[in-house]
Amino acid sequence: MNKTDKIMDIAAKRGFFYPSAEIYGSKAGFWTYGHLGTRIKHKWQNLWREFFLGLNNNFFEVEDCNILPKQVFVGSGHLENFNDPLTECNKCHFRFRADDLIEDALDINAEGIDEEAMTKLIEDNMLLCPKCQSKLLPVRMFNMMFDLKVGATGDDVMYLRPETAQAPFLAFKREFNALRKKIPMGLAVIGKAFRNEISPRQGFFRLREFSQAELQIFFDADKINEAEDWNSVKDYKLRLFTVKDRKTKKIQEVSCKDANTKLKIPKFYVYHLAKVQQFYLDALKVQKENFRFRELDAKERAFYNKIHFDVELNLETLKGFKEVAGVHYRTNHDLGGHQKCSKENLEVFVDEKRFVPHVLELSFGVDRNVWALLDIFYKEEKERALFTFPQNVAPIDVAVFPLVKKDNLPEKAQEIFKDLTKSFKTFYDESGSVGKRYRRQDEIGTIYCVTVDHDTLDKNTVTIRDRDSMKQIKVDVKELVNVLNKLICCELKFEKAGSLIK
Ligand code: GAP
Repeated sequence: MNKTDKIMDIAAKRGFFYPSAEIYGSKAGFWTYGHLGTRIKHKWQNLWREFFLGLNNNFFEVEDCNILPKQVFVGSGHLENFNDPLTECNKCHFRFRADDLIEDALDINAEGIDEEAMTKLIEDNMLLCPKCQSKLLPVRMFNMMFDLKVGATGDDVMYLRPETAQAPFLAFKREFNALRKKIPMGLAVIGKAFRNEISPRQGFFRLREFSQAELQIFFDADKINEAEDWNSVKDYKLRLFTVKDRKTKKIQEVSCKDANTKLKIPKFYVYHLAKVQQFYLDALKVQKENFRFRELDAKERAFYNKIHFDVELNLETLKGFKEVAGVHYRTNHDLGGHQKCSKENLEVFVDEKRFVPHVLELSFGVDRNVWALLDIFYKEEKERALFTFPQNVAPIDVAVFPLVKKDNLPEKAQEIFKDLTKSFKTFYDESGSVGKRYRRQDEIGTIYCVTVDHDTLDKNTVTIRDRDSMKQIKVDVKELVNVLNKLICCELKFEKAGSLIK
């Protein structure tokens, strides 16, 4: 089995995620989060909330409907422009995403190539249907939004939102007034988005129903070269892979100051690049070699973006750097579009000026980030497979075991387990040998295992075992919550937290 298959196997078997409606033969691009996956997803989302809403005290979260009126997507431009290139087999009529087909066959980046050029590439290179080897029809554009008939007559067409981002634009006027008319103002949404992907593939990575965590920051375009907290980041080194770096294939480490003065990226944008990078490197503990910002050129950028860097993580399961998030300068594209389409005035009056605010968007795919965590923290050792998740995303903090299922040890272990559940996400297990129980917890990334043995009854001590080093210490039961708390908050070194068992 390769790494992807191994992770998929653990994910399905242990309850991270598995295909949706599996008992009926599931559809590609739809997945269910199991009990562990849901924990990781929620922990990742909470970390995201805490980190990004904490950047400014005028950043808040809103929540909107998944189903929105057609006019929203006329105003945003999605109805006209949210398309992917599609080609169809002349014989078996299977439909493929043309850029994927070209990229796989010719090993080139096909993002941003237009329909005619793709058709020509297919013809010139005699690319055939991967299923039945017949000819492919000319490439055409396919709108990726799901439409719905709403109401009893079905006359009303509405759409499932293809990005959560529209919610803050629709809520902008009310929130701006409610929040005392100040900008920058940030409105975040964490929720579902839906795209009728032509070929959902890469397992859990390209989905038809997925979650996004997005922050729209409304600001004054005249102040794009200002950032309030600039001094705190000016010497911070960003890992950039700009359009120019594609020839050398080298990632540059550029200070925020140089990114602004030499690469001419506005301060407001650079500041937020730094914060996004810190989220990955400091909060999620991603190794810096596995992180980069990839700049997209004018042809590759989404139709609403003026500056666009994707966040890419180096994922072994996906054979290299893959997009998990993006930092998008959307200008006043959306508010301007909605103002025109709705006839509602969306201008603000700030600093003696009337204008439509511009928007910087920090956009994250939650599911891709969850997959990235599994990829990055999966390890194999001689006798075990484990996830070395940091505490802030690990699904279970502590597992509690009685050494054997007799001598009153299960009763004592239950008592300790109940006590720990007040402070930690805790799991109780008494089946199989202790060795097997350790392996089972390693496989889901549980950070500590607490074993209750005869010493617990005689001396009131338990054994704590550390997932990563497999070292063990003895700790007094009275001290257990306190010690685990300090370990989890990294305030104490494991070896120093109790008496080390040699
Ligand atoms: N609001 C801007 C926006 O939606 P995007 O680049 O289309 O921009 C943002 O999507 C993020 O959402 C991506 O970086 C990716 O992580 C995630 N995403 C996009 N399409 C996805 C899909 N089909 N399945 C899973 N995640 C997806």
